[in-house]
Amino acid sequence: MPSDLVTMDKIVSLCKRRGFVFPASEIYGGIANTYDYGHYGVLLKNNVVGAWWRAMIQERDDIVALDSAIVQHPRTWEASGHLAGFTDPLIDCKTCKKRFRADHIEEGQCGRKPSKKPGETPECELTEAREFNLMFETSIGPVKDAGSTVYLRPETAQGIFLNFKNVLQFARRKPPFGIAQVGKSFRNEITPGNFVFRTLEFEQMEMEFFVAPAEAQQWHEHWLKARMDWYTELGIRPSHVKLRPHEADELSHYSSATSDVEYLYPIGWSELEGIANRGDFDLTQHAQFSGEKLEYFDQQSGERYVPHVIEPAAGVGRSVLAFLCDAYDEDDLGGELRTVLKLHPALAPVKVAVLPLVRKDGQPEVARELHAAFKRAGLQSEYDEGGSIGKRYRRQDEIGTPYGVTVDHQTLEDRTVTLRDRDTLTQERVAIDELPGQLSARLAAPWRSPKLAA
Ligand code: GAP
Repeated sequence: MPSDLVTMDKIVSLCKRRGFVFPASEIYGGIANTYDYGHYGVLLKNNVVGAWWRAMIQERDDIVALDSAIVQHPRTWEASGHLAGFTDPLIDCKTCKKRFRADHIEEGQCGRKPSKKPGETPECELTEAREFNLMFETSIGPVKDAGSTVYLRPETAQGIFLNFKNVLQFARRKPPFGIAQVGKSFRNEITPGNFVFRTLEFEQMEMEFFVAPAEAQQWHEHWLKARMDWYTELGIRPSHVKLRPHEADELSHYSSATSDVEYLYPIGWSELEGIANRGDFDLTQHAQFSGEKLEYFDQQSGERYVPHVIEPAAGVGRSVLAFLCDAYDEDDLGGELRTVLKLHPALAPVKVAVLPLVRKDGQPEVARELHAAFKRAGLQSEYDEGGSIGKRYRRQDEIGTPYGVTVDHQTLEDRTVTLRDRDTLTQERVAIDELPGQLSARLAAPWRSPKLAA
């Protein structure tokens, strides 16, 4: 299989064709780096987020959940360092009025037609690079003045640090313990596109794990492994995901060690998640700015310390994009091209499609009965009777539905149906009454990407 089989154009086009992701405000010509998720996109995204919560909360006893506000007290961003230092160096072109990231100017496109690289023609009038803060500003109350300025959070993490004391007291936790949160963050980024990889608003799945200082390195290693395992267990091929430790000059101001989980996107190896050792930076800063003591007192040992923090911080959009790219495949079915998403069944937006072969002879009634039984069994099922059976299979393959159930003439005689497997394309007869239970068991069984060599 050629390595360029999966291109960003193919993913973007499939996402639009099948209603996963659309450019936002499309009827008005779109808005920069902003996307809307359609029906299947929402189902896929929810499954990714659900798998993350499961790994953080259900499968462990040492992490609690949080949903903090998007707009926090503005002092938060002074303490965190975002107000002073969360900037990108930007260059303006006075001729075409476009703005470019100085460190990515090579990827920029001049705003005039035919588009050229910024600075390539004598008419381009580029300014010196200036630092622009990435936080979106807004104001509280009807009067916009300096005192009313607030910011949309650029990361969910700070809401977690602000709640450290609440969790210590009310959730009765002691280190090592974590606080997990999923929610939207906002960054006024200039980007060269790349679909949902970098957007102005995006969801993050972040967890801050508070530990005794002496245990920080050991927990950092724990989370590096746990997060890599999460991606590969959900079907990402090990050849397409890796850990990349940051060089000293790349580290954020708060971090003593960070490794990125990188995925081999069609645009090349790029960050999917950052796993940082944030030390005691955040709690110390918020303690200093708020005047609250943000520390842990161990009553047994009499020891008092500011916990260190290990932070796995993932992006939902980037995860969705990685799962889509990794699952995308094109099969040759006897000369006919089949586009298919070989998604892990746990992530697939729809688990089973119920298809009457024809729209008569009592087949739709039985198919609807089965569709209802799947729903009662908690399975996301889709009923489809429109178009040829081949077309309906192709549609389900493109959204990654692991199983198709076809009701045909024989069903009316012996109450069996055909069960089609998306990956192997095998078809077998199964008794209707056994199907919901059997399907639930199959969907929960261990799964390995069929794109991996046998
Ligand atoms: N609290 C640490 C933090 O926010 P980050 O590396 O800036 O660290 C974590 O962000 C993750 O959030 C990234 O690995 C990426 O998956 C996602 N992310 C960050 N900025 C993004 C953007 N503009 N668009 C989409 N996802 C983004």
